[in-house]
Amino acid sequence: MEKRANFGSKLGIILASAGSAVGLGNVWRFPTEVGENGGAAFILIYILCVVLLGVPLMVSEFVIGRHTHMNTADAYRKLAPRTAWVFQGYLGVFTSWFILCYYSVVAGWTLKYLLSACAGRISAIEDSAAYFAHFTASPWLPLLCMIAVMMMCHWVIARGVQAGIEKYSKLMMPLLLLIIAVLVVCSFSMPGSEEGLRFLFKPDFSRIGSDVVLSAMGQAFFSLSIAMGCLCTYASYFSDDAKLVKTAGSVALIDTTVAIMSGFIIFPAVFSVAEVTPDAGPGLVFITLPNVFQIAFGSVPFIGWLFAIMFYLLLLLAALTSMMSIHEPTTAFLLEHFQLRRQTATWIVTLSCIAVGVLCSLSFGPLADVKFLFGMTFFDFFDFVSAKIFLPVGGIIISLFVGWKLDRQLVYDEVTNGGHVRFPLFPVYRFILRWLAPIAITLIFLNELGVIK
Ligand code: PHE
Repeated sequence: MEKRANFGSKLGIILASAGSAVGLGNVWRFPTEVGENGGAAFILIYILCVVLLGVPLMVSEFVIGRHTHMNTADAYRKLAPRTAWVFQGYLGVFTSWFILCYYSVVAGWTLKYLLSACAGRISAIEDSAAYFAHFTASPWLPLLCMIAVMMMCHWVIARGVQAGIEKYSKLMMPLLLLIIAVLVVCSFSMPGSEEGLRFLFKPDFSRIGSDVVLSAMGQAFFSLSIAMGCLCTYASYFSDDAKLVKTAGSVALIDTTVAIMSGFIIFPAVFSVAEVTPDAGPGLVFITLPNVFQIAFGSVPFIGWLFAIMFYLLLLLAALTSMMSIHEPTTAFLLEHFQLRRQTATWIVTLSCIAVGVLCSLSFGPLADVKFLFGMTFFDFFDFVSAKIFLPVGGIIISLFVGWKLDRQLVYDEVTNGGHVRFPLFPVYRFILRWLAPIAITLIFLNELGVIK
């Protein structure tokens, strides 16, 4: 068996974890949710969810991973041998594998849009909805793009923790943050962008109902990569002096800043172009934005070309760093549990995800009519089961596990590094895990299943 790997530096720990959190959820899903749920009021509730539920759950995953220094499945087995809790370890590993199968499809789309942007085609698209539909419905191109991004992710993971995940997170995350900063400035300088800023900053509390609160919670968990085994696996590579609460706080801060910045990029741009509406739904970045690029920059083609390239490069980088964290839990599990070589374990995960990802990719084209379970296509099924079922179930189990099952002293020692780091909010943290988080997540879960409204 290979010697167990570790992240080499604190910066590496933060950037790798932030790389996991910052993903399509921030740049693609967050602005969509803000658009659909009434702007600033949604953002306020989202921030509350991140602070009150997201950070405590992230710390809990860190506790489990760092305490055991094991892959997620074996970590639960070590902490609670021969109990039903072990199920959560396997669920975490399985969930991450499951997400990778469809996340890689959307990541593939970002690659295609980046290449089209480089070729100058994005800002020249006449009918972006038809372009998107035509592309996703064709059998080969989306598939090739999905396989290409999977191979990029594979290439990093096969190199291991320090020479792969850490090194490339340290390269990609600063580039991603730089692109965001440049795009925010560009978007602000577009005429009519004040309207978009007003939309982002003026809270419309009349829109706030239970469904908005629940959407905000769901979005916060997805965006912070909670309950998928990813953060737990990364934490198993943390050094013993890494400060868990501070790391979780930094990751949540970076993740939320990137999400809000993405809103800053998208809404001023969208509002500066009167023809498009902010609540355009999930097609926002693939359908609405090409229109924005075309209308806004029609007269200044070079800037439009550059803006589009930077935007889709941003999406691709965000998707890739998240994919790395979704690949690693299963790879680490195969590698350690079955004592495989890293190369072998990585190939098994990559090839199996590609095999299943093919079905998800084709479900926009040749397999669009293949529906099962509530009339969902393969893609919808994978999205629904992972984000709406495994994620909340995992969140509930993790909070109960760390709140009730794990020894209080073990948890305290882990979050304070054996008493060396002050954490006066420990009782509040435990209260959240024992009561607030399980109850709140159960509500999201039941709401998403339509059991309560
Ligand atoms: N947090 C990532 C995003 O915002 C998605 C993700 C989910 C990553 C689950 C890892 C695990 O896109």
